[in-house]
Parts: sequence; C-alpha cells; structure tokens
Amino acid sequence: MAQHPLIQKFEQAGQGHVFAFFAQLPPAAQEQLLAEAGEIDLDEIAHLTKTLLQKGAASVNLQGLEPSPYELRPESGGNAADWARAKATGEAALRAGRVAAFTVAGGQGTRLGYDGPKGTYPVTPLKQKTLFQVFAEKIRAAGLRYGKAIHWFIMTSHQNHAATEAFFKEHKFFGLAETHVHFFRQGRMPAVDLQGKILLDSKQSIAMSPDGHGGSLRALERSGALDLMEREGIDTISYFQVDNPLVRAIDPAFIGWHIERRSEMSSKMVPKAYPEEKLGHFCVQDGKLVVIEYSDLPMEMQRETDSNGRLRYLAGSIAIHVLDRQFVRRMAAGGEGVALPFHRADKKIPTIDAQGNPVKPEKANGVKFEMFVFDALPFAKNPVVIETLRADDFSPVKNAEGVDSPKTCREDQLRQFARWLKANGAEIATDDTGLPSVAIEVGPLFGYDEDSFAESWARLSEKPRLAEGLYLG
Ligand code: UD1
Repeated sequence: MAQHPLIQKFEQAGQGHVFAFFAQLPPAAQEQLLAEAGEIDLDEIAHLTKTLLQKGAASVNLQGLEPSPYELRPESGGNAADWARAKATGEAALRAGRVAAFTVAGGQGTRLGYDGPKGTYPVTPLKQKTLFQVFAEKIRAAGLRYGKAIHWFIMTSHQNHAATEAFFKEHKFFGLAETHVHFFRQGRMPAVDLQGKILLDSKQSIAMSPDGHGGSLRALERSGALDLMEREGIDTISYFQVDNPLVRAIDPAFIGWHIERRSEMSSKMVPKAYPEEKLGHFCVQDGKLVVIEYSDLPMEMQRETDSNGRLRYLAGSIAIHVLDRQFVRRMAAGGEGVALPFHRADKKIPTIDAQGNPVKPEKANGVKFEMFVFDALPFAKNPVVIETLRADDFSPVKNAEGVDSPKTCREDQLRQFARWLKANGAEIATDDTGLPSVAIEVGPLFGYDEDSFAESWARLSEKPRLAEGLYLG
C-alpha cells in the first residue's frame, strides 16, 4: 500500500516516529492521528526547534529597555477632566453598540488543581457564583445600563469547549440572550521533547495543547467572530482573562481612552505591590510598547528603584486590554514580520516510550509552545496604558492557596462591596484592611461598579440592615 503523503512529510521532517504505531491501529484511530498530524505546521516546528530549543537560542532581548509611561489616575495626579471625558466617550460607544466583551478561557487551570473549565469555578462570598456567572451578570447589567445588549465572545480550548457550552446551556446563559454569547476554540500546538521531536501521548494521539492566549487573535478571525462583529457594528473589543472576577469587564473610561487616542490596543496597569509579584512589566524598547514577563526580567531589575525609592519597573500588567477589531484582523492575517512570536514553556509531559508504554515524567521532559496576546502591543498604533485601581479591577484566582487564591479573591470582593456601601453612607464595620465583619455580597445586576451601585442604592426606599448573609441582587 502506498504511504500516506502526510506520513511521508513527517518522515522527511524527521518526525516519522509519530506514526511508529500507525500500522497496529484500528482505522478510526488512524484517522484521528492523521487529523491531528494535519493540524501541525512542520516548518513552524522546525523553526521553533532551531530558534527556541537549540543551544545558543536567543533569550529575551533586554537591550535598551525602559519602563513604560502610563496615564495616571486622578488620585495619583492625573487630570480628572481627561478621565471624565474618556468616560463619556466610552459611554457613548457603549450606547452605540460598538463594544463587545471577550474572555480568554482556554487555559488548563493546573495551578488551581480544579478539574473542569476554570470559568465554572465558584468564587463569590455568599452565593458561590461561578466566574462565568459573575462575568455574564456584569455584561448583562452593562448592556441594560447603556440600552444596548453586549455581545460576549468566549475562547475555549479543545479540552474544555464542550463542557463550557454545556455549562452555559444548563444555566440558561445566566439571563443573556443565547444569540449574544459566542464560543470558539483556540488553536493547538504539539509538544516536543528537548530535541524538537513531537511527543505522542498515546499510540494514536499527539500531545497537543492550547497555543496560548495569543492564539486568540487568529482564532477570532478563523471562527468568524470578527465578521460577526463587523456585521453588528462592533469595532472595540474588551479583553479579559477568565481568572479575575473583580475585573471591570466593561469599563467606559478605559474604552474612552482607547477610542480618543485612536489606539489599536490599550492596556491597564497597576503599580506592582512588591518586586517579586508575578506580573508582566510594561516597558518601552526601540520606541515600541512591550510587556516583559516576570519570568524574563532578571530579579535585580525587578528590584531596581528610582530616586524616590519606587520600583523602576512599576507598571504591572493585569492582562486587561481593549483591542481594535481591524487591528486583530491585521495581526491574524500575519505577513512579513507581523506574527506573534512563540515562547517556550518546559513542562512534564506524559508520553509513551519506544515500545508504546506510558511514561509519567518526574521532571520536565519537553516543551510547549505558546503565544502571548501582549506580544501584539509592539505592532499596535498609538498604544495607551492607563492606571487602574487594583482593588476595583484585579484579584485573580490562580493558586489553590496563598496569594491569588480563592480566599484572597473572596476577601477582595468583600472589601469592594464594603467600600461601595460605605461610600453611599451605609455603616459597616471593617478591619484595617477594609474587610467587613459580616459576609455580604452585591450581585452585578444590583451594582457592578461604583456608579451602578450608587444608583441602585439610591433607589432603595428602605435601606437593608447590614447583617451576616446580606445579598443585594
Ligand atoms: C498572566 C500573564 C501576566 C499577567 C498575569 C495577570 C501570561 C504569560 N502572563 O500570567 O503577564 O501579569 O496573567 O493575571 O499570560 N489562556 C488561554 N489559552 C491558553 C493559555 C491561557 O485562554 O492557551 C487564558 C487562561 O484561561 C487565563 C489566561 O489566559 O484566562 C492567563 O493564563 P495563565 O497561564 O494563567 O497566565 P499567568 O501566568 O497567570
């Protein structure tokens, strides 16, 4: 029997071992393996092996790196009139239906040790609402407030796509119109061993994993999401990660800064809390805005301070962006020098040995390749970085315990609810960190930011007693 042309191609590329067990497989399994192999760009793998794996592979370029400037909030000395104008611009865009929400939810959530799509993880203090429900209600509330329902795009991965869709169906899309929630899958990349050989995870399947949140730009195009946006008159995409329930999913001031500056990609920063905090850093290099990951900026640089004793590389990325639709299209189309780079992540990757027996490695035996969305920043025209208040925008759930855990996130939500209540004249006892002594929860449909909360609170003819277990929803 003549050899399948794909198998020949793999052999020529030195990846013939992928089909080592092919002849023993039943036809359906052969089909599966061929389909997976067909997703792989062998030239790309060869290129990545050469540039990222081989000895002398370039490490991250830190030449000429400078901290990035950013727009200070009024509380930090920024111009209050500029912020007010930006907010009005953002609100007008929302009323005109120009804005969509976009959540990247394709990650594997390994650090949290949770089995299931991360968005289905319960996070709120009383009602135990899941991450997806919190975002859904914020998006629904903002749509109601501005009189225009907001479309929500959710990027999943092969591993969690079906479970994510089923979860939304089961919960009736949390009150959103089904026609306004759009799921699409991100791309995949094969894992390779330290010599660049593609790893199998069984005789009939390749060790494939999501191609990083940077894959969202291609996936938005490939899935037809950008076309849909164009048809709906949406040109502004509010991007956030699935792990952060505090996010201002729809933030008029941020959207307004982006629009007024004619920015193609905008970002939010918070001052890093301490040098070792695991955030990317906004920097400028060769006149371009870049983010240097915490793992790539040497610790002595992360510890550098200026003459006032403040951290020099202060601007931490909290992975919240606004993207222009046309910019995403341009990035997705690629072309000479426009592609996002891949990064390597050394991982323990379960695989099989030459006899086909399963191997569970004790240490990193291979590499996964991922793209990062912030690598699009240097390609964007007029990128703007604005400061935001951490307490109102960022408390991710990443680890099972310690920093960025369900406990810290729950407490940050409680502090936010207590702040909103206090600002509107309610008496509520808190400790020095602002943590209330009673467990309360504010549902996004009652209030999802200080403005919407204040309006709902003012409408209550009788103010509730702030007792343990109070839910405002
Ligand atoms: C990330 C950022 C970091 C930032 C921090 C803020 C990277 C490499 N680093 O760190 O700069 O300061 O968040 O919280 O992103 N995802 C996908 N598909 C993938 C991989 C990830 O959709 O293939 C999504 C995840 O579902 C999650 C988000 O991207 O929503 C973040 O991924 P994660 O790997 O947890 O990033 P961090 O290392 O926490």
